[in-house]
Amino acid sequence: MDTTADLPTRRPRVMVLFGGRSGEHAISCATAGGVLRAIDRDRYDVLAVGITPAGRWVLAEDDPDRWAIVDGRLPQVEDTAAHVLLPQAVDDRDVQVLESGRLPRVLGEVDVVFPLLHGPFGEDGTLQGMLELADVRYVGAGVLASAVGMDKHMMKLVLAGHGLPVGPFVVVLPGELDRDPAGVSERAAALGLPLFVKPARAGSSLGITRVTDLADLPAAIRAAHVHDPKVIVEAAIVGREIECGVLGGRDGARARASLPGEIVVTDPRHTFYDFDAKYLDEAGVTLACPAELSEAETAAVREVAVRTFEAVGCEGLARVDVFVTATGEVVVNEINTMPGFTPFSMYPRMWQASGVPYSELVDELIRLALERPTGLR
Ligand SMILES: Nc1ncnc2c1ncn2[C@@H]1O[C@H](COP(=O)(O)OP(=O)(O)O)[C@@H](O)[C@H]1O
Ligand SMILES: [Mg+2]
Repeated sequence: MDTTADLPTRRPRVMVLFGGRSGEHAISCATAGGVLRAIDRDRYDVLAVGITPAGRWVLAEDDPDRWAIVDGRLPQVEDTAAHVLLPQAVDDRDVQVLESGRLPRVLGEVDVVFPLLHGPFGEDGTLQGMLELADVRYVGAGVLASAVGMDKHMMKLVLAGHGLPVGPFVVVLPGELDRDPAGVSERAAALGLPLFVKPARAGSSLGITRVTDLADLPAAIRAAHVHDPKVIVEAAIVGREIECGVLGGRDGARARASLPGEIVVTDPRHTFYDFDAKYLDEAGVTLACPAELSEAETAAVREVAVRTFEAVGCEGLARVDVFVTATGEVVVNEINTMPGFTPFSMYPRMWQASGVPYSELVDELIRLALERPTGLR
């Protein structure tokens, strides 16, 4: 079945959208560089649109090199004064460009948006809601799945509700530490030590502290508060850190899982996979892909990954991160609805190891987005 049959016969136009307001702006730009390089120009027309750190949508250079991280220099979307406007009504499909002192310029219709954005205001359902209102198709999870995936508290409730394995945790609601510090401490103490204290809605390990002494708990909660008024405190899980890529199914088929990969933090200065280990000290970490797991463990991880994707109601793609304990038990740590997506990131590497090279992965994600209807689905 050709599910793209209702689309125009011209090449579909893809808006590659990147940058954004979150702390992961530069990572998003680097990802866009990878996608702009890999996207098949014979098959798609490309429109590069950047979101500045202040939230302005601007026409951006369609040039992979412009967005690369070179010698530690982080790329950033600048305000070019050519501001991009989405269509605002179902019967008006044109994207427009506004430049001060000039008449609006019509860019024409965009068939699909590829939102390469991480964190709040990109990966959390807010942008997805805006695209839904504009009736524009887009790659990846919808409003609810994005929001659930972003909020580690809600994510755990949804997964537990589906009978999926998550570790023990308590939530510290906004204002609770000030109202009832003893109560917070008592509830957290019941989880044992060490603890992981996290902002409920962040990423890249920002604001996360591993706590080994209960006396350090309030400071750790305040560090998490820098990123989010809602905090989650988790019992530490002892196990290997395994990740698995999930790709939506075509034509109603079940979602597919990649071969798993493993994060091995080799430098003991990092007591966990913290921000520095992720981005600043690549020598201190090994991404093993595929992970050396037994057949049974590999099968269990892939099954949990697909069930997690389904439980959250994801579409398109997600990376499911789990712990595999010494007894082979799989515990879900988190789901990322827009995982790191440079050619060197774990998600594309896991698909590469599973027989789907980067450019094919980009193509598959766009096809999945084009085949799905807009509106409730
Ligand atoms: N409950 C836990 N037990 C053991 N390690 C943990 C736990 N939670 C987080 N970690 C460590 O902290 C890292 C970051 O936590 P994670 O929940 O993945 O946050 P982020 O969304 O910022 O990536 C993980 O990759 C892992 O190394
Ligand atoms: Mg993580």
